Amino acid sequence: MLSQDKTISCASCHSLEEGGDDNLPTAIGYLGQANPFHLNSPTVLNEALAKAQFWNGRAKDVEEQAGGPVQAPFEMHMTPKEVEERLKNVPEYVSTFQDIFGTGITFENVRKAIGAYERTLLTRGAYDDFLEGNDEAMSPAAKRGMALFISKGCKGCHTGMSVGGQSIQKFPLRSYLSEYIGLLFSSDIDIKESPFPFENKGGFLGRDDNLRFRVPILRNIIKTAPYFHNGSVEKLEEAVRIMSKYQIGDEFNKEQIDDMVAFLKTLDGKLVEY
Ligand code: HEC
Ligand code: HEC
Repeated sequence: MLSQDKTISCASCHSLEEGGDDNLPTAIGYLGQANPFHLNSPTVLNEALAKAQFWNGRAKDVEEQAGGPVQAPFEMHMTPKEVEERLKNVPEYVSTFQDIFGTGITFENVRKAIGAYERTLLTRGAYDDFLEGNDEAMSPAAKRGMALFISKGCKGCHTGMSVGGQSIQKFPLRSYLSEYIGLLFSSDIDIKESPFPFENKGGFLGRDDNLRFRVPILRNIIKTAPYFHNGSVEKLEEAVRIMSKYQIGDEFNKEQIDDMVAFLKTLDGKLVEY
């Protein structure tokens, strides 16, 4: 009901069974339109714990965020007035909104209702069991990965209960271009016109076109491939390698990457029941 032709829901792009996203490189919305910036759908799981929403952090919380996709012409393509009119045709919504908000069906109340639901989408898994004292909940490889995550500084950006979502940070932190400029003088180098270590599909350059991105939440990360803002990287191992090289300046070897992935797997979890 929230999309113009009633074929797209929030769950079309944020499926709770698929880790809270769609597993596509870029989002497909109203009339089969792809996201104009080739943006990848992030997970909605644990998103309520984040301090800013969207890849460039332009909305402050899930309530504010929920108004965006409803109105975006390439997502659900509705006006606030159309949303209110549709919902007012359903007697049960009319009475429920009135009972709960006292002000009936308004676009603001719709945003608040969706946000209230999103605040229940919290997951728990092996990592939480480990933190609560169950030493067996994590394998030796996962424990080595966690030690790397802490000692190498991944936790500086992917921080908090949600393991991310708390700040906006530069990516790549260590210049990819300067490395390429150095390589210009050697032969056979395929120079891509991208400030990223992958194709700049969609041309999105982050907040204020400044290569600053809202740090992604790493909970349930094994279910949310492909990776990065434009979904250019298929494998979690490759995402970890890129992070180690360009964000901490210490490219991991295969063993370290495998340990890190073993740790990231423990961040997978199930929805907490309410
Ligand atoms: C057509 C696919 C599509 C639909 C439909 C859609 N979303 Fe999204 N969602 C996305 C994409 C793509 C982004 C990232 C956009 C950006 O950063 O500009 C996103 C971002 C988000 C975020 C922020 C996540 C983060 O990590 O920053 C939340 C929360 C969210 N959507 C919830 C919703 C809700 C609630 C609805 C329904 C009202 C909805 N989405 C409908 C594709 C979709
Ligand atoms: C300086 C901050 C910073 C540090 C340090 C950092 N990251 Fe990131 N990480 C980011 C940002 C920002 C992105 C999003 C970049 C993008 O999509 O363009 C990201 C993306 C990721 C992704 C892909 C997430 C997704 O949903 O697509 C993974 C996985 C990841 N980081 C793991 C790590 C690991 C492991 C480390 C340590 C080796 C690490 N990061 C260190 C800021 C950081």
